[in-house]
Amino acid sequence: MSERILIAPSILSADFTRLAEAIKLIEEGGADFIHVDVMDGHFVPNLTIGPPVIAAIKKVATKPLDVHLMIDNVDATIGWYLDAGADWITIHAEASPHIHRTLGAIRAGGAKAGVSVNPGTPVDSLIEVIGMVDMVLVMSVNPGFGGQSFIERSVDKVAELRWMCDQLELDPVIQVDGGINVQTAALVAAAGANCLVAGNAVFGAPDPKAAIAEIRAAAENAVESQ
Ligand code: DX5
Ligand code: ZN
Repeated sequence: MSERILIAPSILSADFTRLAEAIKLIEEGGADFIHVDVMDGHFVPNLTIGPPVIAAIKKVATKPLDVHLMIDNVDATIGWYLDAGADWITIHAEASPHIHRTLGAIRAGGAKAGVSVNPGTPVDSLIEVIGMVDMVLVMSVNPGFGGQSFIERSVDKVAELRWMCDQLELDPVIQVDGGINVQTAALVAAAGANCLVAGNAVFGAPDPKAAIAEIRAAAENAVESQ
């Protein structure tokens, strides 16, 4: 039996006027997380949603909220996301000189802590914090927008991260985000990822529930046939 691949549909690609319906749909489709993309117009060139909308989503969601913070100044605002009901909070390694402190604050606040690397940031830069996180997110696009093309080099980065975790005898969730579809899901799962974010490939599909199942099956088959 291969490891189950976790699927985290990104509601960035959902219809924002009908978020509750979108969440129900992906939960019925077997989503393991609700991936919530928070952008501040500063760390990334886009603005999305913030704590009040996360708190509203929390009222209707039955699956954990996986909150991906693409924001600067995380130290000052992390409490907002904890209070809003985030179950998992991922910050960017590039977003603050004090990620060690912020990751500790996330766990102290009762949430699971994640750290993410942009395409230009090597995974070995995480060596000092990898032992204090529940998830590492490898960005496979430059963050800011849904619907971008997968950066192929990300496959090797995932393999490097899996190798590093094995050497250190650590087993954080290894998540990949950006340009995930049935083809790229298979590539990154074979390289060692076990949690896949998908926005456009889920909400842009005629049948989002079927899309979730297809992405998971492609990833699990790739792992099994290794
Ligand atoms: C990108 C976001 C992603 C995005 C993924 O900055 O972090 O979560 O929604 O969208 P797709 O799957 O369409 O690339
Ligand atoms: Zn994301």
